[in-house]
Amino acid sequence: MRLSVNIDHFATLREARRAKEPEPALAALLAEQAGASGITTHLRSDRRHIKERDLRILMEVLKTKLTLEMAATDDAKGVALDIQPQTVCLVPEKPEELTTSGGLDVVAGRRRLVPFIRALEKKGIRVSIFVDPTPKQIEACAALGVPQIEIHTGLYAALKPGRERDRALVDVAQAAAQGLKLGLEVTAGHGLDYHNIGPIVAIPELTELSIGFSIIARSAVVGISRAVRDMVALLK
Ligand code: PXP
Repeated sequence: MRLSVNIDHFATLREARRAKEPEPALAALLAEQAGASGITTHLRSDRRHIKERDLRILMEVLKTKLTLEMAATDDAKGVALDIQPQTVCLVPEKPEELTTSGGLDVVAGRRRLVPFIRALEKKGIRVSIFVDPTPKQIEACAALGVPQIEIHTGLYAALKPGRERDRALVDVAQAAAQGLKLGLEVTAGHGLDYHNIGPIVAIPELTELSIGFSIIARSAVVGISRAVRDMVALLK
């Protein structure tokens, strides 16, 4: 199981003072050295944290790979075609949300997504879609011909251990099995932390987890290297 560390909130801290620190790229390099297999960032339409300059620096210095989360907008597409990250993960975006609040509705958005995805693929960018763990959405992703999906674990992660959370976990596991069966590489993420990660790590079809907030929160206290090492140990 690979770990891609989402470093957005280093930029959130920087932007709290419109300052030069902390430098997200420095955190990303330390995360790589501590065992991260990749770095993820979300270029939001309002540029509230990560900016184009961060993406350019990351592409220059990273030794692993950059996954760029973005909405399917012309603005974001222009940046992606210019920066050319290894992977783009398409996510829905609402201006007022604190963080991504659900998977992309691929069933409803299919028509618009086809040319959008082809434009990225033409530049050699691998496209993944952030999707809720429902059979219709997974099927729609496979029909689009993308090689990869990221299953939204937010519902699972928001629940306390118990029957309801067990059901949410089954949904994630079934979506992962369905995705693999349909020929997709299946990753997962959102809301995962040091306490709730165990049952997700046990899902054999998943190849990578994308984790941000909990790692950054721990790193504020113990440092990014230690926070990433602790998470990598749990993934093993
Ligand atoms: N995956 C996607 C698609 C996301 O939008 C986010 C949040 O930016 C994450 C994973 C990471 O979520 P968290 O910060 O809760 O670990």
